[in-house]
Formats: sequence, structure tokens, C-alpha cells
Amino acid sequence: MAKLTIDDLKKIKEKHQSTFTLREGGYRAKVTVHMGTCGIAAGARAIINTLMAEIEKSGTSDIIVTTSGCAGLCSSEPMVTIDILGHPPVKYKALNEEKMQEIFKEHIMGGNIVEKYALVIGSETTY
Ligand code: FES
Repeated sequence: MAKLTIDDLKKIKEKHQSTFTLREGGYRAKVTVHMGTCGIAAGARAIINTLMAEIEKSGTSDIIVTTSGCAGLCSSEPMVTIDILGHPPVKYKALNEEKMQEIFKEHIMGGNIVEKYALVIGSETTY
């Protein structure tokens, strides 16, 4: 058997982490809206409202929306993190309502990452 590299281990961890977290709740996708003070000041409320409206319009019931505190990057707010079952999380930055709508259609519903708005693909890690 070939030796595992650190990169292999990272990929395995990311793949299974998102799968387990989402499966436990029975959801296909989880969207975390970062709602620290700076996020709210930058427009996170409009982002979460847009997201909820898009979910309602689409009629899907397999997406969970959650909030978190700040993500440590004031200058990149408003930000969301999208976890799709079986895929690494993607953090999007500097959002507005139009960008959120586009990300909803392309990534959450279509499965295609919108790279032009992405800050990072995969989780930040301490190892
Ligand atoms: S207060 Fe802005 S990122 Fe934490």
C-alpha cells in the first residue's frame, strides 16, 4: 500500500467531516452566514434574507441555514460558508444580494463552485 501524505490525510478529513456533519442532520447542504458585528455591519442580514427567499422560491427542504460569529476577516464580510454533502466547504466573501442569488443557483442547487466570489475552498486547519 502506498504511503499516505499529509495532503491525502487532509483530503480524507475534509471529505468525511462534511459528510458526517450533514448526514447527522439529514441535510444535503448547510449554509453558514457569518454574523459577527462586522458581518452585520457589512450587510449579512440582507444576505441571510436573500438566502431564505431563494430557498423558499426553490421549494427545497434539504438545505439548513445557520449563523456563526465573525470569521476573523472583517474586510471580507459579508461572508458565507457552504457545505455540500461529500464536498469540501467553500467560503465566499464580499457578498451582496445578487452574488448570493447567483451562488444559490450555481453552487447550492447546481453543484458548481462560483470561483470568482470564493475566498477559500476546503477548511482551514491547524495541522
Ligand atoms: S470582528 Fe470582524 S472579523 Fe471579527
